[in-house]
Amino acid sequence: MLEVDSISVNYGPVRAVHSVSLTVEEGEIVALLGPNGAGKTSLLSAIIGLVPVAEGTISFQGQNINRLDTESRVERGLSVTPEGRHIFANLTVEENLILGAASRRDKDGIARDLETYLDMFPILRERYTQSGGSLSGGEQQMLAVVRSLMSGPKLLMLDEPSLGLAPRIVDQIFKLISGLRDRGLTILVVEQNAQEALKFADRAYILSTGNLEFSGTAEELRTSADLMKAYIGEGVA
Ligand SMILES: Nc1ncnc2c1ncn2[C@@H]1O[C@H](COP(=O)(O)OP(=O)(O)O)[C@@H](O)[C@H]1O
Ligand SMILES: [Mg+2]
Repeated sequence: MLEVDSISVNYGPVRAVHSVSLTVEEGEIVALLGPNGAGKTSLLSAIIGLVPVAEGTISFQGQNINRLDTESRVERGLSVTPEGRHIFANLTVEENLILGAASRRDKDGIARDLETYLDMFPILRERYTQSGGSLSGGEQQMLAVVRSLMSGPKLLMLDEPSLGLAPRIVDQIFKLISGLRDRGLTILVVEQNAQEALKFADRAYILSTGNLEFSGTAEELRTSADLMKAYIGEGVA
């Protein structure tokens, strides 16, 4: 579904992503792991078209999308839930969700999706008329996820959905993410919390200082103390 072929991202003289290739097949959950500053967000930003690629190609559903702007990529079915959530604190839950559908014109489809997701995330229905800023961290993360779902994506990219959340909430968020896959969505999830992400992912990539260090099944990574120690750090395998 998504094919990233040898892409590099530069910020002036800083090379944030160095010739990275990855694929995501339809129906998969793929984890993109790696420490702070590895280039994970830069890679997602390049895929959605928020930063230019210095070299390489990005294809989505068999078509090269390098030259498309972000809006066109969203229309084709790509969506990102950004790191740090970035919900609108002064707007209500409803207003935040409607903004997520800004690229769509199918009113009936928007209303149908809204109902589906409010059923799936009932806390958002409870909070529907409250301001985004009044929600707890976990609720804001759910709001951010559903807002990005409202664009009707085929591939959802999540940037550190567990960041700053209590373990119990993290578990809940990941269960909801795998529930989305069960409904037919394809997911690329960036995480520093490798332990948690690997419970739910099918495959994983590890990025370190802009370079791809590992690619394989989540099972392979999770069950290898050596790999975990080498790439994820001490004391977690
Ligand atoms: N807008 C930017 N301008 C300059 N450097 C940036 C910018 N965004 C990220 N970087 C640098 O690129 C590298 C990768 O950052 P990032 O993609 O945010 O990593 P990650 O998401 O894995 O933490 C880091 O060295 C970071 O300082
Ligand atoms: Mg990041």
